[in-house]
Amino acid sequence: MNITDIIILFQHYLHQEIQTRKQRLPYACCLSTIGLDGFPNARFVSLKEVRDGKFIVSGTLSSRKGDEIQAHHQVALTFWWPETQRQVRIQGIAQVMEGEMVDQYFNERNLGSRIVSVVSDQGKVLHDLNELTQQYDTFAQGLDENSQVPRPENWGAYAIEPIRIEFLTFSESRFHDRSLFQKDQDDEWTEIKLQP
Ligand SMILES: Cc1cc2nc3c(=O)[nH]c(=O)nc-3n(C[C@H](O)[C@H](O)[C@H](O)COP(=O)(O)O)c2cc1C
Repeated sequence: MNITDIIILFQHYLHQEIQTRKQRLPYACCLSTIGLDGFPNARFVSLKEVRDGKFIVSGTLSSRKGDEIQAHHQVALTFWWPETQRQVRIQGIAQVMEGEMVDQYFNERNLGSRIVSVVSDQGKVLHDLNELTQQYDTFAQGLDENSQVPRPENWGAYAIEPIRIEFLTFSESRFHDRSLFQKDQDDEWTEIKLQP
């Protein structure tokens, strides 16, 4: 299989999950980074899309995850799709995206999310919630969903280029079906089956 086929398989599984889901958020995934103190660090983010074989996530670039990715570009993205009982583990290299797609990702978000990105300095100490909500209300005055909100400099997106992708289909018998795809030194993708 080449990477295009592997991404098609990912999209196929994602689609199956979307079609059968009872819960929202099949795009939620756990983004793991290498912490500046050496501890692994993980948080949920939303997959924006898969573009040119890369997994796109977005958010504040100056928060903890941003500092960690700047120091170590190696990251992991992990999905659990409960309806179809599948886990997907992706390891790859994250690079900050440039260009107008980043504005598009920002503008696709609802008005409230965009305003929070402007008024909140993600991850910094919160001294006074009222002050923050007042800033939000002031900013929101007179705006509606179609209003333009300038994208903050520190809001952006990462493109994660995979080097390893594992699909696991959970089995009650614990004989989980595991397929690991990895890129070798010649940039060829190989598949191996793993014991459960
Ligand atoms: C379901 C879910 C989706 C989230 N999506 C995003 C996201 O797309 N981008 C983002 O920056 N934070 C997202 N968050 C918030 C992050 O989990 C995290 O709190 C935030 O990014 C700050 O992380 P950091 O301090 O490591 O930078 C999401 C949280 C949840 C629970």
